[in-house]
Amino acid sequence: MLSPKIIDIKEDYPGFKTYTLRHSLRAKPGQFVMVWMPGVDEVPMSIGWQTDTEFKMGIANAGDCTKAIHEKIKVGDRLGIRGPFGKGFKLREGDKKIVVIGGGYGTPPLLNLAQEAVKKGIEVLAIIGARTADMLIYEEEFKKLGCEVMVSTDDGSKGCNGFCTNVMEEALKNHKVDSVYTCGPEVMMVKVAEMAKDNDVNCEVSLERYMKCGFGICGQCCMDDTGIRVCKDGPVLDGVEALRLPEFGKYHRSSSGVRVE
Ligand SMILES: Cc1cc2nc3c(=O)[nH]c(=O)nc-3n(C[C@H](O)[C@H](O)[C@H](O)COP(=O)(O)OP(=O)(O)OC[C@H]3O[C@@H](n4cnc5c(N)ncnc54)[C@H](O)[C@@H]3O)c2cc1C
Ligand code: FES
Repeated sequence: MLSPKIIDIKEDYPGFKTYTLRHSLRAKPGQFVMVWMPGVDEVPMSIGWQTDTEFKMGIANAGDCTKAIHEKIKVGDRLGIRGPFGKGFKLREGDKKIVVIGGGYGTPPLLNLAQEAVKKGIEVLAIIGARTADMLIYEEEFKKLGCEVMVSTDDGSKGCNGFCTNVMEEALKNHKVDSVYTCGPEVMMVKVAEMAKDNDVNCEVSLERYMKCGFGICGQCCMDDTGIRVCKDGPVLDGVEALRLPEFGKYHRSSSGVRVE
């Protein structure tokens, strides 16, 4: 277990903070770490940004553990970290233009992917969606990388009024896109994967399932009917492969294995 020091905390909006930790993680974009809050729980988190000496995680206050992190962890404290784990996104040889499409707190791993793509000279169109303008994250960070950025908000307070999948539909019409990468609410990712399939565009989706071990031994995160372990065989899966999974976009399992629609 690593225990890197927190060197910066930024509140992006009430309920969402970006933590910068001093450690050379060398994760692949799309991989995740297990974050341990002593006395509370251990939860999976994506890597949002990396340099040779530090990495960032964007954490939404979603329940017991993340609330404790938001309330108790200050600059100078340390967090318990295991990982990096899982299979990340694959940038394909020869791709010239990609779209990354993130909904809500699904956006962090896509920022890390954009970082890598830009280094390789791949053009990136980032589509980010949120419920309201205040809840849009990392717009400036994508712009600073040199990505073209399009935003959508459910209430129309910024960018396109509606879902980010509407923006993607337009983008596929107006741009020659080689690959699409997505992370966010599963209903959104189903739509993205279907649109990519219909347009014959390569697509990868990043799944979220309840995790315990994080590295493939406990079986908590297995997907019906294949036994794909999201922590080890994912979290990133091929879009067409994900569309074949009966639970993709329909249900997941709680910590005790109960099916949650
Ligand atoms: C691969 C992966 C990457 C993730 N990346 C991010 C990220 O970058 N930013 C972010 O804010 N969140 C991310 N999450 C979600 C985050 O792990 C959950 O929001 C967090 O676990 C909530 O825990 P809690 O104790 O605060 O809330 P709880 O009150 O325990 O639960 C709130 C919700 O989170 C789910 N949850 C709780 N514990 C886990 C767990 N161990 N594994 C999966 N889901 C859980 C519950 O089913 C419930 O729906 C990621 C999840 C996965 C699987
Ligand atoms: S969390 Fe244990 S197998 Fe995936």
